[in-house]
Amino acid sequence: MSWFKNLFRKSRSEAAAPAPAAAPAPARAAGPGQGPRHAAVPAGRRLPRIAVVTGSTRPGRVNNAVAEWVLAQASARTDAGFELVDINTFDLPLLDEPFPAAYQNYQHEHTKAFAARIGGFDGYIFVTNEYNHSAGPALVNALSFLNAEFHNKAAGIVSYGSMGGARAAEHLRGALSELQLAHVRNQVMFNLFTDFENFTEFKPTEQNAGTLAPMLDQLVPWTKGFAAVRQEAALAGA
Ligand SMILES: Cc1cc2nc3c(=O)[nH]c(=O)nc-3n(C[C@H](O)[C@H](O)[C@H](O)COP(=O)(O)O)c2cc1C
Repeated sequence: MSWFKNLFRKSRSEAAAPAPAAAPAPARAAGPGQGPRHAAVPAGRRLPRIAVVTGSTRPGRVNNAVAEWVLAQASARTDAGFELVDINTFDLPLLDEPFPAAYQNYQHEHTKAFAARIGGFDGYIFVTNEYNHSAGPALVNALSFLNAEFHNKAAGIVSYGSMGGARAAEHLRGALSELQLAHVRNQVMFNLFTDFENFTEFKPTEQNAGTLAPMLDQLVPWTKGFAAVRQEAALAGA
């Protein structure tokens, strides 16, 4: 029997059963003197821009609720600026560019608009659903339109599914590597059974919600650091 038959067979009472007490989120490392958790951006330096990129275009998707939650949480930080990029607003068809994206010879207005928006960021948080044990097909399709826009930048992953979208995230990591996007280890995974009411209303458990900050604690420094890598790469003509 396929996984989703099981998923929707789960009785309401079972689905509504109280979750076992959540273990406290692991304490995050605090610096000497227990000072601020993350460094403020020095005066005169531009705040790194990080996009929270949606991963589903399905009518009725839960993806945007997850992405908006990520955006709201991340926006409390002072060491980076965060913005939502909803792939649904670009009306991207199935890949219709005649040339591979690496050529940067974009023919269509939708590609040019998407490239202009995506290319302006220093880092990305991809919010992916899991379809057929893979990353969300709408996200993979959207990524296929672009290439150089992602080079030498950093990314973090937020996934969700019956197993926290773990398989989708692993699948996505392969694509990000090919796009020369450095993906941080720490990952956020939401479970359809425990982080969504009736599999639709996003209500993250404290334990899983607590995994966002450690992911951002890795992503923001990488995002800052990769600006120097881009400069070096430009000098080397790479
Ligand atoms: C075609 C399809 C395939 C799916 N395959 C999986 C899967 O392999 N693993 C999983 O955890 N959930 C799977 N699901 C369930 C999705 O995780 C769930 O529907 C989720 O809400 C999808 O995200 P979205 O609402 O943002 O599109 C699948 C759903 C669809 C429609």
